[in-house]
Amino acid sequence: MKVLVCGGAGYIGSNMTAMLREAGHEPVVYDNLSSGHQKAVKTADFVKGDLADFDMLVKILTYKQIDAVMHFAAFIEVSESVENPLEFYRNNVCNTHTLLAAMEKCNIDKFVFSSSAAVYGTPEKTPITEDAATNPINPYGQTKLAVERMCHCQSQTGRLKYAALRYFNAAGAGADGSLGEDHKLESHLIPLAIEAALGKKDEIKIFGVDYPTDDGTCIRDYIHIEDLCSAHLLALEKLNYENELIYNLGNGKGYSVQQVIETVKKVSGKNFRVVNDLRRAGDPPILTADATKAIEGLGWEVKYPELEAIIETAWKWHSENPNGYAD
Ligand code: UFG
Repeated sequence: MKVLVCGGAGYIGSNMTAMLREAGHEPVVYDNLSSGHQKAVKTADFVKGDLADFDMLVKILTYKQIDAVMHFAAFIEVSESVENPLEFYRNNVCNTHTLLAAMEKCNIDKFVFSSSAAVYGTPEKTPITEDAATNPINPYGQTKLAVERMCHCQSQTGRLKYAALRYFNAAGAGADGSLGEDHKLESHLIPLAIEAALGKKDEIKIFGVDYPTDDGTCIRDYIHIEDLCSAHLLALEKLNYENELIYNLGNGKGYSVQQVIETVKKVSGKNFRVVNDLRRAGDPPILTADATKAIEGLGWEVKYPELEAIIETAWKWHSENPNGYAD
């Protein structure tokens, strides 16, 4: 298939683009480079463009004869979403509306959407199944849920087939060593701990040590980037005969912030300062996935079930590329 990868210069989108190519598809990356890196696009045509630009989208979808769209181009920082909710709704919801309208105009009906565990808010029980209540506790999660609902309504018309993939914590780097995680403003735990291990930062802060967990720190479910992407490929294929797919993508295993930091120390062989800090707004104590539906429904196999193996790939990329794609 010819696949338009919106946000294909970003962390997840660039890995997806590489995997699409390897699987025999023809990816075309569409990215405004507001946070992505053109250097991360290695095996696809690249078009610099904005999702707000309906006419440009229609041109690209038509000219490139696109069959399906994958959409990774969204703002992701939860705390920023609390500061600037309108920006989040504009980029994550309004621009996705523009993209879906352009697809409709071009009669393209296959859509794979990056949703998030953030749609669940603070879950009543973990691991979370897809039928759990969706009560996002921040604007970021609300924008992801709003897009899921928009897709659902559009799918009811028969003009859209979509997969909403609810990511838990994407982590690690691609096996060939060429693609990694390089956010302009880094806020994620694993890359920040690695920066501390590399001596680029003096310390890592733990946001909250009084959560109701064994060691008092938050528990998350880390899923390797290649495992995340392989589920997208399977979902794309399944859209040939299904209209509406919703899956959790996680490992099903939780690790605390403290455990992640200890694992980064072990893998890197470096010690660094760890400072206990206050809770960060909008953090649920525990988020772990029940991914049985994706495993059974897609035939999805997780290659990296262990945190240590995931962190090893991240450490390798960051230590070989200490300045990210700027090298
Ligand atoms: N954390 C620290 N110190 C840091 C950074 C993070 O203690 O310097 C903690 C956070 O408070 C949280 C955990 O580490 O408890 C993981 O935080 P991340 O920022 O790495 O990831 P999140 O779980 O907050 O966010 C991820 C995605 C979001 C998505 C969310 C929903 O990045 O886009 O999962 O599951 F909304």
